[in-house]
Amino acid sequence: MSKVKTAFFCQNCGAQSPKWLGRCNSCGEWNTFVEEVIQREEKGSVKASFGDRRQVAPVKISEVTFSHEARMNTHDQELNRVLGGGLVPGSLTLIGGEPGIGKSTLMLQVALKCDDQKILYITGEESDQQIRMRAERLGIRNENCFILTETNTQSIFQHLESLRPGIIIADSIQTLQTDLIESSAGSVSQIKECAAEMQKYSKLTNTPVFLIGHITKDGSLAGPKILEHMVDTVLQFEGDRNYGYRILRSLKNRFGSTSELGIYEMNDAGLREVSNPSEILLSQRDEAVSGIAIAAMMEGQRPMLIETQALVSSAVYGTPQRSTTGFDVRRLNMLLAVLEKRSGFKLGHKDVFLNIAGGIKVEDPAIDLAVVAAVLSSNQDSPVDSKSCFAAEVGLSGEIRPINRVEQRISEADKLGFERIFISRYNTKGLDFKRYSIQIITVGKIEEIYRKLFS
Ligand code: TYD
Ligand code: MG
Repeated sequence: MSKVKTAFFCQNCGAQSPKWLGRCNSCGEWNTFVEEVIQREEKGSVKASFGDRRQVAPVKISEVTFSHEARMNTHDQELNRVLGGGLVPGSLTLIGGEPGIGKSTLMLQVALKCDDQKILYITGEESDQQIRMRAERLGIRNENCFILTETNTQSIFQHLESLRPGIIIADSIQTLQTDLIESSAGSVSQIKECAAEMQKYSKLTNTPVFLIGHITKDGSLAGPKILEHMVDTVLQFEGDRNYGYRILRSLKNRFGSTSELGIYEMNDAGLREVSNPSEILLSQRDEAVSGIAIAAMMEGQRPMLIETQALVSSAVYGTPQRSTTGFDVRRLNMLLAVLEKRSGFKLGHKDVFLNIAGGIKVEDPAIDLAVVAAVLSSNQDSPVDSKSCFAAEVGLSGEIRPINRVEQRISEADKLGFERIFISRYNTKGLDFKRYSIQIITVGKIEEIYRKLFS
């Protein structure tokens, strides 16, 4: 038996140190170093079971063979889109999300839908009976879907050898354990090593592998920060547990854009793909209410209309409160300052609350104008016409600024039956007003929007 080798690992970012440190040099967190055994006996046993390392020599890039449409269909259009047009063979994908958000449900659903090849769902979290019960609930039958309740990677690889599945799902990376390392499952060195083994397997056999990873309360992938650079794709499954819908976001993608978004709705028979997101992001209401304005925004390549709600009221305490969900509070403060300075609205002594419908987090600056309209409407207590929508950024001098892909936003609003869209005056280049039945109203200054809406 060789000498036991240990090292200290930061449980936050995965940094390694030969001795204990009070404060991590790389992420700055205090008290995160834990000693872990990193003894490795026979290095590369994965390699041993999957044939010898291929002999590789440098080749000209033009001579590297590749196939164009090598994407696999996951039979889930939202997932396909987020992955950049389908699953790439031999890719390693990490799916993160808070406990209970629906990661296992999503992946089991994918496993059940892919009936054109063998698919293996490895679970270290639930029993095969629990998985079966969930599958019954999802109501999909698939003779090609296999369940393996195993956490030891060495025995997993043995099973893989005989089964040779086309797609592998490991739920979760934190429960996997390799014999090569002695620390307990879920520790940084275990997570790292297990992921490395999975990666080797996936690259050697050209099998796509999904790893499910938990997220800690502060929103970072537990341990998996260290995984982010190893895997090809990092997807995050998020959403408010109190709302029915979930968003699948790509944080890193070696094979596609990271601005794509998949939307699902969780109901009692699993996750339903939402192909028209505006249907859930716009609330159905009969009477006009003040403080609501609709923004025509883009998430990735997809235009969607989303409701912004503002509540402006006299401050109860000395310091007015500013609170937002789904929108940057500093951006709100900036917009309020612009409104105050450029058009004389006295909002400094008012509480302002802002809510983006559906628990979605918006980063598209085109939502600015809708936020301004919602705030003005609530302040004024007079509703914005429910058939109007907005798409423009607001600058510090109160100018209404142009945004990208304005045609796409206009067509989407048009398609959804809106009657008016407010855009920047500087956004009309090449725009054919006659193509749309929606009325396009252009504004140049923040003062104008008030006049056009309320007088
Ligand atoms: P789960 O996939 O177990 O979450 P994770 O793997 O991310 O921890 O999801 C569990 C939640 O999903 C649970 O609270 C119940 C809910 N759910 C439904 O609402 N409908 C369903 O059909 C299923 C299977 C789960
Ligand atoms: Mg789970």
